[in-house]
Amino acid sequence: MTAALLDALRSAVGPAALLTGPAATGGYAHDMMPLAPYGQPLAAVLPADTAQVQACVRACADAAVPIVPRGAGTGLTGAANAVDGCVVLVTTRMNRILELDADNRLAVVEPGVVNQDLRTVAAARGLFYPPDPSSLDTCTLGGNLATNAGGLCCGKYGVTADYVLGLEAVLADGSLLRTGRRTVKGVAGYDLTRLLVGSEGTLGIITRATLALRPLPAAPGTVVAAFDSVEKAGDSVNRVVRAGLIPSLLEIMDATSLRASADYLGTEVPGDGDQALLLCQSDAGGEQGARELELLDSLFRQSGAASTYTTSDPAEGGLLLRARRVSLTALEARGACLTEDVAVPRTRIAELIAGCAGIGDETGLAVAVVGHAGDGNMHPTVLYDQASPDEYTRAREAFDAILALALALGGTITGEHGVGKLKQHWLEREMGPVALRVHRQVKDALDPAGLFNPGSMFARREDGRGRP
Ligand code: LAC
Ligand code: ZN
Repeated sequence: MTAALLDALRSAVGPAALLTGPAATGGYAHDMMPLAPYGQPLAAVLPADTAQVQACVRACADAAVPIVPRGAGTGLTGAANAVDGCVVLVTTRMNRILELDADNRLAVVEPGVVNQDLRTVAAARGLFYPPDPSSLDTCTLGGNLATNAGGLCCGKYGVTADYVLGLEAVLADGSLLRTGRRTVKGVAGYDLTRLLVGSEGTLGIITRATLALRPLPAAPGTVVAAFDSVEKAGDSVNRVVRAGLIPSLLEIMDATSLRASADYLGTEVPGDGDQALLLCQSDAGGEQGARELELLDSLFRQSGAASTYTTSDPAEGGLLLRARRVSLTALEARGACLTEDVAVPRTRIAELIAGCAGIGDETGLAVAVVGHAGDGNMHPTVLYDQASPDEYTRAREAFDAILALALALGGTITGEHGVGKLKQHWLEREMGPVALRVHRQVKDALDPAGLFNPGSMFARREDGRGRP
């Protein structure tokens, strides 16, 4: 049976695009979240086009072997993690930008296009694709679509779903579903496009996407503000929202993450007084941009910022932002990390950070917090020693306690990374039994045999067999 499946896959994609054995497939077995479980794939396939994806899906369906779809593997929930004996379907070879229609401000892409490559091509035409996960240099649009990825721009520009006009996806029976449109407006039928975005590879494999673009905004100006308490930084976020300002970027870093980034970059270590930093940008441009930066600066001062610094030079702004962009890498350089992506109402950011400090005290572990303050999506990161089973146990406890805290604050277990194979048991806790039942009904309708990404998003049923 296995040999017949491998033969069918080989003839679907060609021998060079079928990988077998632990050495060849190991790199495709998991994403970047150390906490999520993963198994040993039977094979990895790298199809070159939609027809090859269909052939692979049909072959796996015939053999009743599950498929785990995957982009670049930069995810942080194990959504792309292999289960034992599965076929990992890797979309990175499908990396063509098929169309860039500047007059209609849209692009048609394959799933393996790297996020930054679309941004670069769009920018050359005076256009902008906003969703900007921190991994934008390597992550693929297919993964962004499957997880409804966010990034640093979301307070002003929204998330991936806000830019998807239409999709093409291979369903579990191998048929090709086309959803959506190329028009600015369009309301025909159920919104199947939105259903697929963020479905984490559990409903179909996205093979093509029509994405809306925006006019390229002005190069941003930057203001940074240091605070001697996270409460003051939280108050600043409230003031910004209340004033009706929508910065193109508003990030927060706590003292632990500031120190880690400073060590990593070899820059000046922040003083003991610096408990939080806000990094803020305006891309309004011209006089309006300058006025927005001034207003932001004055709001930060009103909250009691210890110091503020403004620059209209985008290159200098980029340097200032480096501390934030490297923050997770810098924390990882100190040891093992469990990164959350809970989101809370913006008015409760300071409470979340204070609660994380409390969880850190209770578990005896450091919890660093960086996050997208502009939209309330925070990345509390639990630091632990991988060599210590006791610390690992406590890190898991801290991880769960942070999820409970976010829900208690009126938030969500995931603002941008997804559920994956990490937070399945929390899905019902957040959305309740009826919504979970509807999720299962949708999954059963589209993928009755549980072919796609079993064990992701939903806890597996006791009767096993991949079905959710
Ligand atoms: C970030 C990723 C972790 O914001 O979402 O850096
Ligand atoms: Zn993030």
